[in-house]
Amino acid sequence: MLPTQPPSTDDTPRAYAFSGQSGGAGKTQGVVNLGVELANRGHRVLIWDIDPQRSASHLLGYQDPPGGHATLFSVLTGDNKLDEAIVPARYRIAAGFSDAAFRNIANLDLVLGTPDMADAEVTLGHDPAGILWLHNVLDEQLPAGRWDAMLFDCGPTLGILLLSVVLVAPQVIGCVNDEYKYVIGLTDLESTLDRGRSKLRRLGFQAHLAHILATNIPLDQRGNVDRKAGAITDDVIRTIRNHPDWAPRLLPLIRRSIRFKETIVKQRPLRFHAPSCTALEDVAAMADTLGFERRNSTRRGR
Ligand SMILES: Nc1ncnc2c1ncn2[C@@H]1O[C@H](COP(=O)(O)OP(=O)(O)OP(=O)(O)O)[C@@H](O)[C@H]1O
Ligand SMILES: [Mg+2]
Repeated sequence: MLPTQPPSTDDTPRAYAFSGQSGGAGKTQGVVNLGVELANRGHRVLIWDIDPQRSASHLLGYQDPPGGHATLFSVLTGDNKLDEAIVPARYRIAAGFSDAAFRNIANLDLVLGTPDMADAEVTLGHDPAGILWLHNVLDEQLPAGRWDAMLFDCGPTLGILLLSVVLVAPQVIGCVNDEYKYVIGLTDLESTLDRGRSKLRRLGFQAHLAHILATNIPLDQRGNVDRKAGAITDDVIRTIRNHPDWAPRLLPLIRRSIRFKETIVKQRPLRFHAPSCTALEDVAAMADTLGFERRNSTRRGR
């Protein structure tokens, strides 16, 4: 296993960008479930919903905010300050849309996503310093010491928006679901990062494929890929394990469970929707592999 990023000793939060070129790679579930796990371990976590589909925001208790509310996009355009777009992550406990229908998740905050982020590639492309937007936001507006970790749920594109994210979150977690197209997507992601390192070196671009997260994998009772339940999936995992550069980067597999698919409509991350689901053990194993210890007392960011 490759060495993991050491726990931050200063005020700089550890940062991971979850990416995958093909849609449905498992980015949102990865970000949300890891975020909930880390928060539960006592780490203060900020999730950034970069994707115009804004599934992370929905899953963490937010429908589209009323017009005029600050979002990641209005932070990007400079119309709002970062702090105005940050909300406490929450999960649904009752029907309806009032605040009483949700319970906050301790230690977990969210930068609200928006469909407007679909315009981000163009907006940033027209700005000579576009690739630096997030770098500048963090530099000027991120409160020192407020979060221990930041997780970025990137959209399924490999353009300037992704480059701007991985400039500040160089540890990229490439996500693959249970089909071979995700392996191709992983190759493309790696090439994009390689190109970035060679062309953007002067900006301090160091992003690399640090880990691979494979999810929705049918496992048998012994924890092996259940080929009967998915030969294609087995091929995906074999390909990664046979690849000398990828094999050491593969995180513990997240097993297949139908309960994941229910979480978005229920607006309850897996830990709250199905607390006895065995896939949560896999999420915990991922957090262990990334080196996040269990802290004794729950720390609160607010
Ligand atoms: N371990 C799992 N078991 C079963 N289904 C899973 C698992 N992990 C993810 N899924 C399902 O796979 C689909 C894709 O996952 P997810 O939404 O996290 O991917 P994504 O990369 O964020 O997709 P998008 O590109 O649409 O944003 C979803 O329907 C999700 O519920
Ligand atoms: Mg998603």
